[in-house]
Amino acid sequence: MAKYIVQKSGPLHGEVEISGSKNAVLPIMAAALLAEGECEILEAPALRDVDVMCKLLRSIGSEVKEDYDNGRIVIRTDKIIEEQAPYELVKRMRASILVMGPLLARTKKAKIALPGGCAIGARPIDLHLKGFQALGAEIEQGHGYVEARADKLTGGKVYLDFPSVGATENIMMAAVLAEGNTIIENAAEEPEIVDLANFMNKMGAKVKGAGTDTIRIEGVPSLHGTRHTVIPDRIETGTFMVAAAITRGNVLLKNVVPDHVKPVIAKLIECGVSIEDSDEGMRVRGDLQPLISTDIKTMPYPGFPTDMQPQFMALLATVSGPSVVVETVFENRYMHVGELNRMGAEIKIEGRSSIIPGDKTLQGAQVICTDLRAGAAMVLAGLMAEGTTEISEIYHLERGYSSFADKFRSLGADLIKVED
Ligand code: UD1
Repeated sequence: MAKYIVQKSGPLHGEVEISGSKNAVLPIMAAALLAEGECEILEAPALRDVDVMCKLLRSIGSEVKEDYDNGRIVIRTDKIIEEQAPYELVKRMRASILVMGPLLARTKKAKIALPGGCAIGARPIDLHLKGFQALGAEIEQGHGYVEARADKLTGGKVYLDFPSVGATENIMMAAVLAEGNTIIENAAEEPEIVDLANFMNKMGAKVKGAGTDTIRIEGVPSLHGTRHTVIPDRIETGTFMVAAAITRGNVLLKNVVPDHVKPVIAKLIECGVSIEDSDEGMRVRGDLQPLISTDIKTMPYPGFPTDMQPQFMALLATVSGPSVVVETVFENRYMHVGELNRMGAEIKIEGRSSIIPGDKTLQGAQVICTDLRAGAAMVLAGLMAEGTTEISEIYHLERGYSSFADKFRSLGADLIKVED
């Protein structure tokens, strides 16, 4: 199994190009199943998760051409041959459940392996299913699978008890081909939802209100192929912003949408980081003044993203003064705390809150990536830690960050990948 070996690296400097968004491209690839015709997706990031989605779409009957060097994926689905997502793929990537809405819309049936628990919480899919039921589908569960069937889908009103990103996307994708109008209330407002709506509208769908808490969809009889450029990854953006901050460096980030990272910008400024936006990109400087603590509460968008919580925790361990982080989105997203504590962070967890004393000189240690964003936090901590940090189970990082080690090295990080 491969590992990263990270040495204390000094301030990062230079420029980094942010890739297309993982969490936008996955639902967009699933939505391509809705089209009678070819969909061309541009700025697709080269990621293991994207690869899994390609495999899944092929198993369903799509013809998929990947040209990762040019960030281009072409998907065409003339005939659905298998209306299901098998356990082998769902267990590798939870986002496989996003094919359920499009399959149900196109063939009136879909069978998906239940994703089960994962490192960051139980993550049920009850809200996805509640949405399909509101559109007239019958749901049956058994033998580790859930199946949805309908004679026809008809528009309906769905209130989401929590603004789940995946449920909002799955329900939108089922509703675009339903007969009549659908309203999703307390919908998720993430930029990836807006990107999905834009993609489907280019295919001929009628989706309004994406990016607000009420999404209205007027069903249409069919959708055609289209071409779409995926938005930049706001979590990769945030990760490199924190990398500049934690190493007290000076980095220019290119291909970013500052509006999508507003809470990250606000919190970094509270820590004393300087952020300047220009036509060139976003310059992040952690070298202008000593950095200080701040408190964070994760929330659905436009609140502070849970996917940036582990990386921020690494930063807060190194700044002056104590901080409190409250995780409200996932019930068990503190697996990285034990690893940061092995490096000397001395973080304490109290229920959903954690107290970070700060003022620590981290020490290199052997640590593991417990999940994708936790893995990023380990790399960030390793860049500041005295001595060598050995990070194992890095396959998590390759799921969601494109050219991760190369990008860090180009900024001056001392990071190498070794095969064990
Ligand atoms: C998406 C992102 C993930 C991010 C998360 C929250 C993708 C591929 N992944 O995941 O990176 O961390 O949003 O921003 O886009 N819930 C239910 N019932 C449901 C669905 C969700 O109770 O039917 C709960 C979950 O257990 C969790 C919370 O809602 O506590 C948020 O989950 P959700 O927004 O659905 O996250 P994902 O779409 O899985």
